[in-house]
Amino acid sequence: MDSVRSHLNEYVSTVGKSPIRALFELSFDPNLISFAGGNPASELFDVDGLAKSFAHVMEIAGPRAMQYASTDGEPEMRAAAAQRSTGMGVPTTASQVFITSGSQQGIGLLSQTLVNPGDVVLVENPSFVSALQAFGLQGAEFKPVDTDEAGVVPEALDAAIRRWKPKAVYLIPTFQNPTGVTMPESRRRAVADIFAAHDTWLIEDDPYSELRYTEDQQIPICADPRLDDRAFLLNTLSKVLSPGLRVGWVRGPEHILERLSVAKQATALQTSTIDQLAAAHYLAHTDLQATLDPIRAEYARRRDAMLTGLREVLPPGSAMTEPAGGMFVWARLPEGYDASELVYDAIEAGTMFVPGAPFYVADPDPRTLRFSFVSNTPEVTRTGLERLAPVFRRG
Ligand SMILES: Cc1ncc(COP(=O)(O)O)c(C=O)c1O
Repeated sequence: MDSVRSHLNEYVSTVGKSPIRALFELSFDPNLISFAGGNPASELFDVDGLAKSFAHVMEIAGPRAMQYASTDGEPEMRAAAAQRSTGMGVPTTASQVFITSGSQQGIGLLSQTLVNPGDVVLVENPSFVSALQAFGLQGAEFKPVDTDEAGVVPEALDAAIRRWKPKAVYLIPTFQNPTGVTMPESRRRAVADIFAAHDTWLIEDDPYSELRYTEDQQIPICADPRLDDRAFLLNTLSKVLSPGLRVGWVRGPEHILERLSVAKQATALQTSTIDQLAAAHYLAHTDLQATLDPIRAEYARRRDAMLTGLREVLPPGSAMTEPAGGMFVWARLPEGYDASELVYDAIEAGTMFVPGAPFYVADPDPRTLRFSFVSNTPEVTRTGLERLAPVFRRG
């Protein structure tokens, strides 16, 4: 074929591959210490607990678990998801929930359902790369909204909605990926007021809020009942139980979830029956909060080790976030540094991070980079950062 591009869908041929997924392959090299992926710590997975749920489901309902099932999700899983969203402060019934294969699929299905080519989608700048891919595949045009150390700036959001008349606004208000930033409660109220006053969709992505390392529990913006007809909340079991399970959900207006099910049928028919039944059984028989307590304590220790280590190895004049939860620290190197170049020297030295530029939809800052702190013990993190010290010194 002369030009492969002209034979492909316009957006598939132009949307870039995720740089994190590209590094993912390398991260299996046992000699490399990776701060790149947003992977929960494998050694803290409740393997026995989930294995018991799978065994139970096969024993009690084997044929059902092995059969095709509904597009919208199994009743047990929808009920469990509704209960979880309600527990997070967003009163939810099972009929307001649509089960997805991870929240990434939720973002993809919402993109397919809501976005036409050329529609504007407002995003934080930087934002989650795979969400940008999903909207990009539908031909979305991105516009950035100003953020500060407390997330999206309400006045800037209001002005951007007035100016760009976006089809949707995609936000990660709690322990944001990639910055780790969290929007405080007072600002959430201001942001909810803005959405209540405008005719645009809010897509609130919340995979990290239960990985909090302080007592402060952030309630999603979607908890405001004025937004029930215009907001979607995405949740997932990936970060709190297992990303390999691929179970997440979208909470949103029921008449739109019906349309989402067309996109789901066209994409995947349904989410795995056995995975949903096992996840639902697990949630019904496990005190997830109690399971998470030691994980949160360990992740907090790992975050502290990352912050202490970074303070020592980042060159003078660098800045970094100090997240109260989630998985990521976001750093900015001094003038003259380029993290996209340094990543190769870092890999040579035996450590990996993600350069920040691909997370931006406008004005990429080459001096930024993201470190995931949850996958490695404090000792391994220290070793990884020691390897990075000479790389940063050379600049
Ligand atoms: C902000 C954000 N949304 C969604 C996802 C996707 O999660 P899932 O495994 O549920 O598809 C991630 C994973 O890294 C994420 O960081």
